[in-house]
Amino acid sequence: MKIRVNNLKDTERIGKIIAGCLTKGTVICLDGHLGVGKTALTSFIAKELGVKEHVTSPTFTIIKEYQGKLPFYHMDVYRIESADSMYDLGYDEYIYSEGVTIIEWSDLIEEILPEERVNLRIIRISDDEREIKIDGKGYVFDKIAEELKNYENTVH
Ligand SMILES: Nc1ncnc2c1ncn2[C@@H]1O[C@H](COP(=O)(O)OP(=O)(O)OP(=O)(O)O)[C@@H](O)[C@H]1O
Ligand SMILES: [Mg+2]
Repeated sequence: MKIRVNNLKDTERIGKIIAGCLTKGTVICLDGHLGVGKTALTSFIAKELGVKEHVTSPTFTIIKEYQGKLPFYHMDVYRIESADSMYDLGYDEYIYSEGVTIIEWSDLIEEILPEERVNLRIIRISDDEREIKIDGKGYVFDKIAEELKNYENTVH
């Protein structure tokens, strides 16, 4: 499924819809080129989940923890040396927790991603326009797909 967003406001709308579908234990994988809007989308999702703190990129710390309606874990694995080194940071405890986990640059740790997850890939069309490709497996993905079917800029 593909969604076309025309500007940051549209991205916020999509973030809200996605956030409304999340439950404890959800893992969202977020990929796309440098500066495409992964952290922007993450911050909109976090806001809708009730995270009051401003969500910023955890590039150097790899993992940042927030508290909203659910615990919210934001990972940016861009600088990870190997997928295996994620386990030293407590990766397993995060993804199999009662919280929601978002992983920027998940492609880099593909071999250790859980099977049940939501994959979001953002593609830059112009300064403000993006295409968001969505696929995945499991109940939360099915719910997101169902909700976004009705979104005006959805390409099936
Ligand atoms: N429709 C849009 N959706 C998301 N971001 C947008 C959009 N239009 C413009 N932008 C801008 O693009 C930039 C995206 O930066 P952001 O840090 O979110 O990217 P990123 O993919 O997380 O980068 P990195 O690869 O460094 O982690 C922001 O400055 C944001 O305002
Ligand atoms: Mg980022």
